[in-house]
Amino acid sequence: LGVLAVLLLIVILAVVLGLTLREDSNDLKPTFLNRCQQFQVKNCQHAWEVFQQAYVDKDPCNVSMEAYDPFIEATSFTPSCNRMMFWSKTKDVVHEFTEKKECFQTLEDTVLGSVLDGLTWCGKKGSSETFTTGCPRWTDCINNPVRSFWNRASAAFANVACGNITAMLNGSIATPFDSSSIFASIEVGNLKSDKVNNLNVVLVTQKNVVSNCTNQSFENLKSKLAEGIKFNCKEVPETQIQECGSDPEKACGSCW
Ligand code: APR
Repeated sequence: LGVLAVLLLIVILAVVLGLTLREDSNDLKPTFLNRCQQFQVKNCQHAWEVFQQAYVDKDPCNVSMEAYDPFIEATSFTPSCNRMMFWSKTKDVVHEFTEKKECFQTLEDTVLGSVLDGLTWCGKKGSSETFTTGCPRWTDCINNPVRSFWNRASAAFANVACGNITAMLNGSIATPFDSSSIFASIEVGNLKSDKVNNLNVVLVTQKNVVSNCTNQSFENLKSKLAEGIKFNCKEVPETQIQECGSDPEKACGSCW
C-alpha cells in the first residue's frame, strides 16, 4: 500500500507540474515578468498590473492607445541621446545589428518594447483574464490591444528622442517611407525639434536595389518632420551592416 501511495503521489506531482509548465508556455505573465527582470526595473509585478489594466475586461476591438498611458509612465526610461534607432520593414536586420553592437538602441531593446516583443494578448468583456489566443489580428480592427500598445509605445519612444537619431528603412521596396507604417504615422510626427537635431536614414539595400535616397516617399518624410530637424539619407548594403555588426573591432561610427 505504501508503494502504491508513493506512486500515486508521483503521478499527481507530475500532472500538476505538467499543467503548470503548459500553462506557462501560453501565459503572458511569466514571459512579461522574466523579460522585465532582465532590466533594472524596481517593480515588475507593479508594471504587469498597470499593463493589464489597459485591456482586461474590455472588448478587444475597443482598446485605445491612451489606455496604456499608466503603463508607459510606470516603465519610464531615460532616452540615450544619439543612439536611438527607428526602423520600418527592416525588423530582422536592425535587431540583429543592435543586439551585437551596443551603440544603437531600438524600442524593442528597451524594457518597454522588450517585454512585449513578438507577443499577442487581449482581454474579454466580463473576464479578468489575459488571453493569448483568439485575439484580433493586427488589421482585424484598429483599436486592438496589441496595435494600440505599439502605437502608444512608439509615440513615447519618439517623444523623448534626442540628438542625432537613425532610422533603418528598406531599399528593397518601392515605398521605404510607407505612410501606413508606425514609423511614418506615429513616430516621425512625434519627434521634437527642440530635442532632435538630425534624422539619419540608413536605406538598407540588397542585391536587387528597388529604391534609393532620391525616392519620392522621402519628400513626404521631410514634409512631416518638424521644422529644424535636418534630414540625411545613405544607401547601405545589408551585407555591410551584418559584417559590421559581427566585427567587434569595428567602431559603430564607421559602420556606414
Ligand atoms: N500585421 C501584424 N503585425 C504588424 C502589421 C500587420 N499588418 N504591421 C505592423 N505590424 C507589427 C509587427 O510586429 C511588425 O514587425 O509592427 C512591426 C513593425 O512593422 P513595420 O511595418 O515593419 O514597421 P513600422 O510599422 O514602421 O513599425 C516599426 O515602430 O515598433 C516601432 O520604434 C519601432 O521604429 C519602429 C517602428
